[in-house]
Amino acid sequence: MNEFNNFEKFDSYLQELWGALQVKIDRMVKENKSAHVSAEGVYDNIPVDWWTSGFWPGILWIMYDMTKKKEYHNAAWEWDVRIEQCFIEESRLHHDVGFQFLPTAVIKHKITGDQDARRRGLQAANFLSGRFNIAGNYLRAWNDQNGWAIIDSSMNISLLFWAAEEIGDPRFKHIAKAHADTVLKNFIREDGSVCHIASFDAESGEFIESLGGQGYDPHSAWSRGQAWAIYGMANTYKYTGEVRYLRAAQKVAHFFLAALPDDYVPYWDFRVPNFDGEPRDTSAAACAASGLIEIANHLPEQEGRMYKKAAKRIIHSLTNHYATWDQPEYEGLLREGVGNRVKNKNVNVSLIYGDYFYIEAIAKLLGWENNIF
Ligand code: GLY
Repeated sequence: MNEFNNFEKFDSYLQELWGALQVKIDRMVKENKSAHVSAEGVYDNIPVDWWTSGFWPGILWIMYDMTKKKEYHNAAWEWDVRIEQCFIEESRLHHDVGFQFLPTAVIKHKITGDQDARRRGLQAANFLSGRFNIAGNYLRAWNDQNGWAIIDSSMNISLLFWAAEEIGDPRFKHIAKAHADTVLKNFIREDGSVCHIASFDAESGEFIESLGGQGYDPHSAWSRGQAWAIYGMANTYKYTGEVRYLRAAQKVAHFFLAALPDDYVPYWDFRVPNFDGEPRDTSAAACAASGLIEIANHLPEQEGRMYKKAAKRIIHSLTNHYATWDQPEYEGLLREGVGNRVKNKNVNVSLIYGDYFYIEAIAKLLGWENNIF
């Protein structure tokens, strides 16, 4: 299947793809590493306090839930226990605890009912809500600046919505919504593009300015940031039922889709002045695809169709042009991910979160329903 022109045959295409994915993942299970970046076909093994430590276990839990193969379950089991240690040691935990505990503790509890995992997820939600700045209505990003909020947190607030539902106490939801409203006000622009960082006066809570962060500049559109916003606002709608969040997700999706190059995989920022020689970011494509499916799931079938079709086109392009099927030994599913182009760090590599959202999107298209974001 080279050219994508037949949506009717997409289901059998996905089935075939799922088989190919399992072969790749089965090889990586033996290593079971705390993966982040694969530059030359071998994933690194980073300390578990790093923000990406939840994604490899998240892949394992999805694979287990889809196949019920014990190897995946066994390899996934201890990860939330390991990551929990970061709460009792000096660590780099920050706003991204959602990325670390949703695909580990929360999904483990959801799939297996394990009560210790539930406790760990709730502890992470407590930690995240402790980062809320009540004067500025934002979750503090990172640990060096106390007045910065970032678009990435749109994804992490799912942890707070989950906690609110889990213990039947809306406090966590109030915080998540307050942050989401700040995203609507200070991040998402009129044209549907999104900045990476919003800077506030941490004392008064006043908005100061937008910053470029991992994007090209303060007025640009960092592609992974757009993806975080699409998916995060769709999730916020899912948890609140308040339609302004769904409309925001659609608005950012429209910008994203209109600005994509012909092969549906964005460059690392949509507003780089000259794309010659600039890298794509497959992780942004994969995350956006999963977010587009989420939008489609919350709209009437007829309205949602175009978002789902766009997600399928993205998955098809990633599969046919960016995946590593031709190198069975290569650890990593998608090539050409970009960690941080501004700092020239991890450019043109495989990224574990790109692989995670690629698998998650495929699983969702195949009918998987235990998504934790
Ligand atoms: N959460 C950090 C990133 O998207 O690079």
